[in-house]
Amino acid sequence: MKLLITGGAGFIGSAVVRLAIARGHEVVNLDALTYAACLDNVASVADNPRYAFERIDIRDRAAVEGCFARHRPDAVMHLAAESHVDRSIDGPADFIETNIVGTFTMLEAARGHWQREGRPEGFRFHHISTDEVFGSLPADPAVKFTEDTAYDPRSPYSASKAGSDHLVRAWHETYGLPVVLTNCSNNYGPFHFPEKLIPVVILNALAGKPLPIYGDGSNVRDWLYVEDHADALLLVLERGQNGRSYNIGGENERSNLQLVRTICGILDRLVPRPGGSYADLITFVTDRPGHDARYAIDPSRIRQELGWRPSVTVEEGLERTVRWYLDNEAWWRPLLERRGVGQRLGTGDKA
Ligand SMILES: NC(=O)c1ccc[n+]([C@@H]2O[C@H](COP(=O)([O-])OP(=O)(O)OC[C@H]3O[C@@H](n4cnc5c(N)ncnc54)[C@H](O)[C@@H]3O)[C@@H](O)[C@H]2O)c1
Repeated sequence: MKLLITGGAGFIGSAVVRLAIARGHEVVNLDALTYAACLDNVASVADNPRYAFERIDIRDRAAVEGCFARHRPDAVMHLAAESHVDRSIDGPADFIETNIVGTFTMLEAARGHWQREGRPEGFRFHHISTDEVFGSLPADPAVKFTEDTAYDPRSPYSASKAGSDHLVRAWHETYGLPVVLTNCSNNYGPFHFPEKLIPVVILNALAGKPLPIYGDGSNVRDWLYVEDHADALLLVLERGQNGRSYNIGGENERSNLQLVRTICGILDRLVPRPGGSYADLITFVTDRPGHDARYAIDPSRIRQELGWRPSVTVEEGLERTVRWYLDNEAWWRPLLERRGVGQRLGTGDKA
C-alpha cells in the first residue's frame, strides 16, 4: 500500500514509518517539523526508494491537497498533532489549530482525493488518538476504558484530540469517508522526545539531576512500548472494520512512582551511581493542574477481533529504552537545547 503518514518525524509516527517501510509499504511522510520533530528518527529509511518526505503544515489546505494529488495514497495514517499536555496548559492555541483545524483540513483533503479516485472501498483514513479523551478513572482495577466509554476530556490537549475524533466520525457518517480510529495509552521507547516523563527521568538521572515526580506520584498510566503500538496501528489499518474504533493498551498499569523506581533499578544495574541509587534523586514537585488520576485500557476488541498482543512487558520495554538512550547520546543531546526542554511547563501560572 502507499501510505500518507502525517507526523512521521515525531516519536510514534517515525516508529510507524520505519515499520511500514520494513513491511514493504510505500510511505509519504508529511510533517511540518515542529520543535517535537526530528528527521534523525527516520534516517534509517530516508534513502529507501519507497520513502518520500514532504515538509507541509496540516493546516495548509492547498499544500495538503497538492500532496494528495502528487502521491495518490491508498490510505492515510494521521498522527501529526501537538502532543504535550504541559505545553497545552501554557499555550492551548496551537493545540486547537493543529489538532482540530488541522484534522479538519486533512479530512477535507482526504475526502476530495477519495472522491476523485472513485470512492475506493479499501481507502482508509486512520486517525490516531489517545485514551486521554476518556478522562480520568477511579482506582478500582476492574474499571477500564472501552470503546464505548463516554468522552470526558479534561486538558486542552485531550479536549483537542476529542474534538478531532468527533470530526473523523462525522466525516464517516456524513460523507461516507472510510475511517478507522484508535485510542492508545501512554507510549514509551526509543526516539521519545526528551520532555516526556520517561526520557526526562533517564537523562536527568544520567546527569545527576533531580528526578521530578508530579504530586505524590500516585497517578497511574497504562504503558505501551512504541514499536508494539506501531504494529497495532498497521494491523488496524489493514484489517480494522470501516467506521470502527479500537482501544490499544499494554495492560501495564504502573503509578508514576513505580515506573520511575523501575527505571532507577535498571540504571543502577547498567551504570551504577557512585554513592547510592538513582532513586535517591527522586523529587516530588507541584502537581499538574487537572492531573488525571488513572488511565487504563481494556484492549479486548483489538485482541479478539484482530488477534493483537503487545510483544514486551513494561520491564523488558523499559530496559530496551534505557539501553537505547545510553547508546544514542548523539540523538538526544542536541534536543535538550530546544525551546522549553528541561523547563517546568504547564503549572497554569502563565496567562
Ligand atoms: N505519545 C503518546 O504516548 C501518545 C499516546 C496515544 C496517542 N498519541 C497520539 O499519537 C500521535 C503522535 O504522538 P507523538 O507522541 O508521536 O507526538 P510527537 O509530538 O512526538 O510528534 C508529533 C509530530 O507531528 C508533527 N506536527 C505537529 N504539528 C504539525 C502540523 N501542524 N502539521 C504537520 N505536522 C505537525 C511534529 O512536527 C511531530 O513530528 C498524536 O496524534 C498523539 O495525540 C500519543
